[in-house]
Amino acid sequence: MRIYKVGGAVRDRLLGKPVTDIDWVVVGATTEEMLAKGFRPVGADFPVFLHPKSGEEYALARTERKSGRGYGGFTFHASPEVTLEEDLIRRDLTINAMAEDDQQNLTDPYHGQRDLDARLLRHVSPAFAEDPLRVLRVARFAARYAALGFTVAPETLELMRQLSVSGELEALTPERSWKEISRALMEDQPQVFVEVLRACDALKVLMPEVDALFGVPQPATHHPEIDTGAHTLSVLQQAAIHKQPLTVRWACLLHDLGKGLTPEEQWPQHIAHEFKGLKLIKAVNERFKVPRDCQELALLVGEYHTHGHRALELKPSTLLELLQSFDVYRRPQRFEEFIAACEMDARGRKGLEEKSYPQADYLRGAATAARSVAVQPLLEKGFKGPELGEAIKRERLKALKAYKAALS
Ligand code: CTP
Repeated sequence: MRIYKVGGAVRDRLLGKPVTDIDWVVVGATTEEMLAKGFRPVGADFPVFLHPKSGEEYALARTERKSGRGYGGFTFHASPEVTLEEDLIRRDLTINAMAEDDQQNLTDPYHGQRDLDARLLRHVSPAFAEDPLRVLRVARFAARYAALGFTVAPETLELMRQLSVSGELEALTPERSWKEISRALMEDQPQVFVEVLRACDALKVLMPEVDALFGVPQPATHHPEIDTGAHTLSVLQQAAIHKQPLTVRWACLLHDLGKGLTPEEQWPQHIAHEFKGLKLIKAVNERFKVPRDCQELALLVGEYHTHGHRALELKPSTLLELLQSFDVYRRPQRFEEFIAACEMDARGRKGLEEKSYPQADYLRGAATAARSVAVQPLLEKGFKGPELGEAIKRERLKALKAYKAALS
C-alpha cells in the first residue's frame, strides 16, 4: 500500500499558499485492508475513507468512465492494480493532478508543475468533459488565481465551450452549481469567474439574464463605463475589494438585471428597470436554490438601489417606506447589507471608484432616527392593534422629518 497527497494540497503547497484540506490517494490496497486498518468508509458511491485519527479523506486509486448524463452517471473501477498515473489522468486540471509522497517527491505525469510556472489552467485529458461541473470549477480557479497571473489555456476554454453548447450544463443539480458559484463569488476576483463563464458561452446557459447585460448601454453621464455588463463586473469587483459577504456579492451580480429587458429604442435610459428586473432575479434565485438570505437581499437591492443613491433627495415619507420595506427595526443587518450593495454599485463605475458615498451614513442615520421612536409612551396613551401601528408610523415620520431638517 502506497499513500500520496493529491490535488489541491500539492498545488497550493507549490504555489506557496496555505493548505487547509488534504486529500490522499491510496495505491495498491483493497477496501478490506483499509477497514482492517481502522479507516471509516464514506458513503456508498466511491471507495473513499476517513482516517481514524485525522479525519482526512483517503480514496483508493480509481479509474472512472462516464455512463450517463449528469453527476450520477459514472462507473468507476477501484482495485489494487490501478496505478497512480491512471488515477491522476481522470482529474480536471494538470495543476490538480499532481501527487506527492511523504518525502515530498512529486509525481507529475501531466506536467502540472510546468503549467503552474506558466500560470495556465489546462485540462489533463479529454476525460475533463465527463463532468460538466468542471466548467464552473475552472472559472472559479481562474477567479482565485487571477492575481497570480493565471489564465485558462485556449484549448481548455474551447473544451469548456463545447461542453456549454452541448446542453451538458443543464444536467447539473442546483446544489452543485450553487456551491461553485457561491465559492467563486467569495474569491478575490469574482468578476473573473463571470468573465470566464462568458468567454466559454456558459454564462448564457447558466445565467442568460446576466449575459444579456453585455452590450446594453447606460447614460455616460452617470456611467462612464457605459456597458451594463462591464458595470456589473466592476460592482462585483468592488464588493470583493471591500470584503463584502456573499449576500452582498450576490445582490451586486443581480442588481441591474432589469436593464437587459429595456427595448433598444429606449437605450441608454432604463425606465423602471428596478421593478422590471425582479422577476429575473427571482428566476435566477430559484434556478440555483439560492439560500434565503441571498435571495431576499438580491430582490430588495434590485428593487430599491436607486432609492439608496437618491437617499438625500427622498421625501421623509419615501424614506419611511424604504425603512419599512426593509423592516430595519427587526432586521438592522439586512439594511446594512443593502447600504453596502448600493455603495458598491456607485463605486463600480469607471473613474468613480474612490468617490465618497454620503448616502451610506445618511441612510444609517435615518434608520437610527426611525428606530428611536419608543412604543411604550404610545401604549400608555391607549393605542392598540392597527391604531398602534399607525401611531408608530406617524411618530417615525416625525422623527425622519426632524432628521432631514436638522441636516439641511
Ligand atoms: N476533482 C476533479 N474534478 C472534480 C472535482 C475534483 O478532477 N469535479 C479532483 C481534482 O484533482 C481536485 C481534487 O479532486 O484537485 C480534490 O477536489 P476538491 O477538494 O473539490 O478541490 P481542490 O482541488 O482541493 O480545490 P479547493 O482548494 O477549491 O478545495
